[in-house]
Amino acid sequence: MRQVKPVPPERLPELLRRMPKAELHMHIEGSLEPELMFALAARNGLTVPYPDVAALRRAYVFNNLQEFLDIYHAGTLVLRVEQDFYDMAWAYLQRAAADNVLHTEIFFDTQTHTGHGLAAEVVINGLHRACADAKAQLGISASLILCFLRHLPEHEAFEALEQALPLRDKLVGIGLASSELGHPPEKFAKVFARARALGFRLVAHAGEEGPPAYIWSALDVLRVERIDHGVQAMRDPALVTRLVHDRIPLTVCPLSNLKLKVFPALTRHNLGRMLQAGLVATVNSDDPAYFGGYLNENFMQTFAALGLTTQQAYQLAHNSFSASFIEASALRVFQDRLAEVFETFE
Ligand code: ADE
Ligand code: ZN
Repeated sequence: MRQVKPVPPERLPELLRRMPKAELHMHIEGSLEPELMFALAARNGLTVPYPDVAALRRAYVFNNLQEFLDIYHAGTLVLRVEQDFYDMAWAYLQRAAADNVLHTEIFFDTQTHTGHGLAAEVVINGLHRACADAKAQLGISASLILCFLRHLPEHEAFEALEQALPLRDKLVGIGLASSELGHPPEKFAKVFARARALGFRLVAHAGEEGPPAYIWSALDVLRVERIDHGVQAMRDPALVTRLVHDRIPLTVCPLSNLKLKVFPALTRHNLGRMLQAGLVATVNSDDPAYFGGYLNENFMQTFAALGLTTQQAYQLAHNSFSASFIEASALRVFQDRLAEVFETFE
């Protein structure tokens, strides 16, 4: 890894804002801001069960992942037609571009929406059109990862996969999200094997609230290339050795971990220790509309809380590109732009 010149502590926030970066772990449904939720509800002739935006925001207090997922799921009820998915994704992509995100890999699921009576192609076509417009109008590259919902049975994940196959070219990968505890990765062994045979890139949430054993099985049974969250890996030294040796990226989401009480305070987050252990960690926003900040806010608050360094900023941005599913030529362009910003920053 290139050694970069340290910047004075008071200049670090500006460098964090300005540095080019990739985002590899965000759920598009988790970027639905209350203002847009009310606007879509009105457009679709629906009501949000809160009197106004402020009251809805006040409800965003969670003690664990499940409490969040219940509110998050209720919020998705306002999404009814393709344009709703476009508008939600476009709002996120503009926000990401403002944070100097050059590339983003967006999680979404179809099972939530097919469960509300929508067709999978309504979801995928709306999101994909926003990604295509982002490339043309914002200069940001965006790809889509379809997540299965792990609280539902594996045969329903198979149905979601089959429904998505006519739109295969609009997707880069398959992931696994929703309630982790009690739903280990191996529950989805067969459907991940099928996705792998179809040529999808594979990721899975593991070790957010769940034990290190779930990270082992995501690697060894599902054969994923990246682990989403993975912060519980630090409880298992043999697992850390494996992740470091195989250079498995971990898409860490510090403000999410704070808001879902995975850590009692940001000052207690283990991101600094993960980097010191040699793990390929990245910083991500997970569900920015619910957890108090988009990508730059995650960087700024985490660096302030943990006292991370200029070198670690460079490392995290570098990791975000190398852990992505972009092709080699684009990767070189992004890494060069990153190096240039660090070299010329005053
Ligand atoms: N879906 C949206 N956000 C999630 C998270 N943090 N963990 C699992 N599933 C999710
Ligand atoms: Zn997530």
